Amino acid sequence: MDALRAIYTRESTKDFSVQQIDDRVLQTIVNCGMSAPVGMRRYDTLHLTVIQNKELLDEITEVADMRTAERPHAPLYKAPTIILVSSKFEREDHIEYANVACVIENMTIAATALGLGSVYLWSVIRVLKANPSLLNKLELPQGFVPVSILALGYPPQPIAEKDAPRHTIKANIIR
Ligand SMILES: Cc1cc2nc3c(=O)[nH]c(=O)nc-3n(C[C@H](O)[C@H](O)[C@H](O)COP(=O)(O)O)c2cc1C
Repeated sequence: MDALRAIYTRESTKDFSVQQIDDRVLQTIVNCGMSAPVGMRRYDTLHLTVIQNKELLDEITEVADMRTAERPHAPLYKAPTIILVSSKFEREDHIEYANVACVIENMTIAATALGLGSVYLWSVIRVLKANPSLLNKLELPQGFVPVSILALGYPPQPIAEKDAPRHTIKANIIR
């Protein structure tokens, strides 16, 4: 799939099959994350943690479970792989959040191009940060703070390819 088509096709997958991603595909997605733009080239302020360990995924799911009648989904949508993106925070302007979003976005587009489903997860992070014993199991390097998660896996049905945007953001041109 070419880049434009992958961008138009990407959508949040909120139901994953149990099939795991193979290591070659995973490495390509991680490589695409590493190819993201990062302010002042501070790639050393970022860290990726790939989690495929079922027990750990189940524990995160259990701790972060916020299911209600209106929001009945499991927090990680049963994704077989998650990539946690963490950052050191050094700047007052919080550029770190923008860096993490660029890394996640590159990986989600790559995942789409490779036929995978993905979803950006933010709300689980607050729960992780509030649970020191779980945070400890993530083996983050000293000084790194979890910022966002990309959940990855195969959707039950392939995502239908699209060649136009599904959402609208108002835009104007000043000439
Ligand atoms: C910064 C960010 C945080 C998000 N956090 C969550 C989240 O915590 N849980 C969730 O289910 N979806 C989350 N999403 C997915 C959005 O809900 C989704 O992208 C949006 O509804 C548009 O739908 P689409 O991705 O299918 O185009 C997040 C997306 C972004 C960009």
